[in-house]
Amino acid sequence: MTILFCSDSLDPAPWRDALAKTLPDLSFTSWNADDAQGIDVEFALVWKFPLSRLQNCSNLKAIFSLGAGVDWLITEVNRPPDIPIVRLVDPALMRDMTLFVLNRVIHFHRRLDRYQGQQLYQHWAEQENPAPADCRVGILGLGELGADAARCLAQHGFDVAGWSLSPKQIDGVACMNGEDAFIPLLERTDILVCMLPLTPETENILDDRAFWSLPKGAYIINVARGAHVVDKDLIEALNTGRLAGAALDVFRTEPLPDDSPLWNNSKIIITPHIASVTSVDSAAFVVADNIRRIQNGEPPLNVVDPERGY
Ligand code: NDP
Ligand code: OXD
Repeated sequence: MTILFCSDSLDPAPWRDALAKTLPDLSFTSWNADDAQGIDVEFALVWKFPLSRLQNCSNLKAIFSLGAGVDWLITEVNRPPDIPIVRLVDPALMRDMTLFVLNRVIHFHRRLDRYQGQQLYQHWAEQENPAPADCRVGILGLGELGADAARCLAQHGFDVAGWSLSPKQIDGVACMNGEDAFIPLLERTDILVCMLPLTPETENILDDRAFWSLPKGAYIINVARGAHVVDKDLIEALNTGRLAGAALDVFRTEPLPDDSPLWNNSKIIITPHIASVTSVDSAAFVVADNIRRIQNGEPPLNVVDPERGY
């Protein structure tokens, strides 16, 4: 079996080594524009890579994304038609994302943003200390990552509601779904966490209208995609005090350009798209498992629906 590793930014060596441990009959090759690559390749592992380059791979059985979000991939007009695109659903990715979201929620809930401000002028003052049950967290997106974060926050006593397209049932979480439930979810949310995929329906979803639907003094956490947020509306909402703070891990342009006004806003915490980083060993195990399924004639798990966009 031949696997083609396709990324201009990731090092193929750790992937080759990790996959070799679990797929002994593996032939692993990396994209090289000078080779006439194609005919033997059955599986492509891709990350931010032009899929048009796979046009010659006539034996391709599946394209595996090395990340959970597939917005960059699904919008590629020249991707090989009819080849299943499999996204990464990995327990390590889920664990790390949940811990990151928990950290950001606690940061705002325990007023650590205010203590950080106080430290700048050596001001010693205790802020209020509300119980988790008095903090309403709203999670946009109850998929693999959102559902796990919602469950974890509920287990820690937060008053959690979540929003998805189809109906869900998650212990301890008020699950809401469909377009009509969007504003009602915002209206009952003190800390909003965006965990949606980026699609035409969700692009710019966090705009002025959304910020005005949240209670005054609410917080935003975005760990999904930068294009979910209308940056100028966010800055305006923070500057007027409509929102109390934001934690942003993802941006329209990454790395965030030096001249972005987001950098210098004291109410914004910026991290460089690290909320959850793919762990090679864990992800390689997941990919290998799916390859074995395909070789056994079973359909792969976590296939993306191109129509839906995620
Ligand atoms: P999933 O596809 O498993 O879940 C997506 C969720 O969003 C589903 O619950 C889906 O509803 C819901 N949804 C989609 N469209 C809409 C809509 N129009 N209205 C309401 N709900 C909607 O994705 P994951 O949980 O695996 O990942 C979520 C995102 O997290 C990724 O797309 C990626 O952008 C981001 N991510 C960020 C990382 C980081 O480090 N910052 C790392 C990994 C991922 P339904 O269940 O009904 O289909
Ligand atoms: C992502 C990822 O989709 O890193 O952001 O998995």
